[in-house]
Amino acid sequence: MHLAEYLTENRQRINEQLEMLVRDYTVSGRLQDSMLYSIHAGGKRLRPILLMATAQAFRVPEEKVIGVASALEMVHTYSLIHDDLPAMDDDDLRRGKPTNHKRFDEATAILAGDALLTLSSQVITEDAGLSDAERVFLVRELTKASGARGMVEGQMQDMLSEGTEISLEALEHIHRNKTGQLLRFSILAGAYLGGASAEVLEEMTEMAEALGLVFQIQDDILDVTGDSEVIGKPAGSDEGNHKSTYPKLLGLGGAIAQKDRYVQKAQQALKNAGVEGTTLSELIHYLSNRDH
Ligand code: IPE
Ligand code: IPE
Ligand code: MG
Ligand code: MG
Ligand code: MG
Repeated sequence: MHLAEYLTENRQRINEQLEMLVRDYTVSGRLQDSMLYSIHAGGKRLRPILLMATAQAFRVPEEKVIGVASALEMVHTYSLIHDDLPAMDDDDLRRGKPTNHKRFDEATAILAGDALLTLSSQVITEDAGLSDAERVFLVRELTKASGARGMVEGQMQDMLSEGTEISLEALEHIHRNKTGQLLRFSILAGAYLGGASAEVLEEMTEMAEALGLVFQIQDDILDVTGDSEVIGKPAGSDEGNHKSTYPKLLGLGGAIAQKDRYVQKAQQALKNAGVEGTTLSELIHYLSNRDH
């Protein structure tokens, strides 16, 4: 199957599951409307797709991972709703539509984010297709990746570094947390459910960490070179917020070269884990070259 087809098919599966879960677990009204608005705003679903592609590489049936893949996308969507708030990046456009606080209001956007975050853990703990041990592992790893030593800490450091000159090392540290940790979870969850050995899990973690940097470097590059229409969010937001980014620190060419080094690293780790030549390999390439 071509990658484009693979992406479309899996996106559809995830969208259906997300719709069902959010409707099942909420009551109709403003909060549900606001959650569904951001859920349906047209995200690329890269994290759940990576989780599903990893599970497939380790021969895990799709039914077993669709719930946790959806939970992961809920966390990601919450993080975007909050990231766009006036107190944070203050952006008006997301996924090609007005941001949640623009379409609703700030209080609703904060609460929709809160609800998506908490729902993610509930969905995993109530997933009938998982054993108790699997549920505990997945909730622990997802909350760790999202929380005060993960995405939230990355966001904090990102905010603190606005308007200051930071080193490449410090920037990489921010990227590893704010974006890397959720991407890392997608790979870890798939490989864990596939019963991967400790050695293989380690290689997959390395691949995921490199991939996370590839992903965020490209996000930074697109903020400079991208077209708002295509990326679905305001181009130049980082410059406007005086953010430290790869292109700012290394120049555009330097950022691209750095990204390519991490692509090589990710492909090598995939090989070491014994799952090269799978859809994952194509996904590394796709993430590195995406235009939105
Ligand atoms: C954007 O993530 C935010 C970052 C972590 C850089 P995506 O580019 O995956 O956004 P969606 O989900 O497709 O909207
Ligand atoms: C946000 O990074 C990462 C999150 C944890 C949400 P950015 O602020 O660069 O994401 P975009 O560019 O707004 O999507
Ligand atoms: Mg931000
Ligand atoms: Mg932002
Ligand atoms: Mg960005």
